[in-house]
Amino acid sequence: VRIGILGTGIVGQTLAAKLRELGHDVVIGSRTEGEDKRPFAEAAAHGELLINATGGGNSLAALEAAGAENLNGKVLIDVSNPLDFSKGMPPTLSICNDDSVGEQIQRTYPDAKVVKALNTVTAALMVEPGLISGEHSLPIAGNDEGAKAQVADLLEKFGWPRDAIVDLGDIAGARAQEMYLPLWLRLYQSQGTAMVNIHIVKG
Ligand SMILES: NC(=O)c1ccc[n+]([C@@H]2O[C@H](COP(=O)([O-])OP(=O)(O)OC[C@H]3O[C@@H](n4cnc5c(N)ncnc54)[C@H](OP(=O)(O)O)[C@@H]3O)[C@@H](O)[C@H]2O)c1
Repeated sequence: VRIGILGTGIVGQTLAAKLRELGHDVVIGSRTEGEDKRPFAEAAAHGELLINATGGGNSLAALEAAGAENLNGKVLIDVSNPLDFSKGMPPTLSICNDDSVGEQIQRTYPDAKVVKALNTVTAALMVEPGLISGEHSLPIAGNDEGAKAQVADLLEKFGWPRDAIVDLGDIAGARAQEMYLPLWLRLYQSQGTAMVNIHIVKG
């Protein structure tokens, strides 16, 4: 599959490496061109499937540069978090409660099929969930059932068991995924490792 990843940080690079290992044709998008990175619009045009791996506060700018014509009709996995580091550590959420980056993207590009996923775990764990022993969970959310099924298939290829993938419903579920970050940041601090996740159980 041709995949366009918007974002050159650790997440973009980690996902690109895994997707290439799985045999996909990946182009990474950036504001500037360079070795193994192309302009956002070129990466988005290349991808049949797209991934937003930019900072949540910059995602709409990155997607605007990517161009609506390169997003429409495509599944867009949104991995971003709206973390604002401008007031120091720990970061605050720049969008929360009644909105989320995932919803902003879906509202701005109604013809894209946004699926919020993977934002609740550290980059290494996204593509190798076995780094944590035992069962642990990955929430996803999005309006399009077919898009979520396609993303779940990809997550399975990353190593996530099907029953670890917890569907939160429509894209408003992205609020919950993004507002999980303050808890994640506390767990990171208290447990002394980024290799930390939650396991959702029901009675
Ligand atoms: N780090 C993790 O383990 C982790 C885990 C879960 C979720 N996330 C989320 O995943 C996303 C990516 O995280 P990351 O640490 O890999 O990278 P990041 O440093 O948050 O973002 C890097 C990307 O943002 C782009 N960018 C920065 N300013 C921009 C602007 N003004 N306009 C457009 N694009 C801009 C950069 O473009 P250039 O290439 O041009 O510099 C770069 O491609 C974030 O939302 C983060 O919260 C991270």
